[in-house]
Amino acid sequence: MKVLVAGAHGKTARRLVRKLAGDGHEVRGLVRKEDQLAEVQADGAEPVLVDLENDEVHGRLGEAVAGCDAVVFAAGAGPGSGEARKETMDYGGAAKLVEAAEKNGAGRYLMLSSVGAGDPEAGPEAMRPYLRAKAKADERLRESGLEWTIIRPGSLTEEEGTGLVEAAEDLGRRGEIPREDVAVAFAVALESPNTVGKTFELLSGETPIREALEGL
Ligand SMILES: NC(=O)c1ccc[n+]([C@@H]2O[C@H](COP(=O)([O-])OP(=O)(O)OC[C@H]3O[C@@H](n4cnc5c(N)ncnc54)[C@H](OP(=O)(O)O)[C@@H]3O)[C@@H](O)[C@H]2O)c1
Repeated sequence: MKVLVAGAHGKTARRLVRKLAGDGHEVRGLVRKEDQLAEVQADGAEPVLVDLENDEVHGRLGEAVAGCDAVVFAAGAGPGSGEARKETMDYGGAAKLVEAAEKNGAGRYLMLSSVGAGDPEAGPEAMRPYLRAKAKADERLRESGLEWTIIRPGSLTEEEGTGLVEAAEDLGRRGEIPREDVAVAFAVALESPNTVGKTFELLSGETPIREALEGL
């Protein structure tokens, strides 16, 4: 499959790019900074330069998506960002990618959302702007005609992956998960038609990733 990963230099995305390339997919890695192109290429992707928040180059997002079978939104404004960038990036960037996928024939869209996006008002006050932006992005994707999957991981860690997770629409608990396991779950979801049209939370657990996703 030809897959565009948006935010390809991110900590989860880099692991995903390497995994997808290792699995034999053709990967396009979207970044907004020229100095990240070489590393994204070394990870195994064809690097493309697009700023998801800059409307002047929005046209080029379409070019980046053209020819891809699937797109993954793995970008994000990051924890140091203010409310404005939750809107322009965590919502706006994801929504622009939905539009670009719709217009350019990439039928499949995998969203890296977040635990808590199902009910932003129940989250801690400081997290609400972020969770609202993630919820809006998920909603925009659900309204699209794309074959979507929305994955909502818990707090991401730099720990080594265990390959063991728990996945369900509502896990009823909070927790952590290594980025490496999230990356593997995305690669598995890409090849699992049963995950199309599903939204699910993902935390470290006791079930092998493929089995956990098959059970959704
Ligand atoms: N951290 C957590 O515990 C947690 C929990 C649940 C879900 N999530 C979500 O998981 C995703 C990945 O998290 P992460 O910590 O792995 O990500 P990360 O390392 O913060 O990477 C995010 C990437 O997005 C890129 N980006 C930002 N603005 C952009 C723009 N305008 N155009 C193109 N790229 C842009 C950044 O590039 P630059 O270097 O250019 O800024 C960066 O490479 C995010 O969507 C996050 O919201 C995080």
